[in-house]
Amino acid sequence: PKITYVAKDGTPVEITAEPGQSVMRTAILNGVDGIVGECGGQAMCATCHVFVEQVNGGAPDPGVLPEISDDEDEMLDCTADPRQPISRLGCQLKAGTDFNDIIVRLPETQV
Ligand code: FES
Repeated sequence: PKITYVAKDGTPVEITAEPGQSVMRTAILNGVDGIVGECGGQAMCATCHVFVEQVNGGAPDPGVLPEISDDEDEMLDCTADPRQPISRLGCQLKAGTDFNDIIVRLPETQV
């Protein structure tokens, strides 16, 4: 699976993710700036906030990614950068299972 992280200055970084690894974990393991992941992926910190721009080559329409859980929904209301309709927690999106190819834009700030 492939994850493209678009930095706030617009620079894209493309990474091949291990299947099962989240957008948050893959960023940490590969030294991608702009994702913190303070809670380690428990949907409890909102420092892995991303804006999903594309999934599997198409628009991130409803139903393309797994639904937002109640926990994720609550945390998305606490993000440092204001929530947008395309906001998700990077720790809740798993490579290979939830997507094969994703483009996420990183917010201005996570804290
Ligand atoms: Fe904490 Fe995703 S890593 S909410």
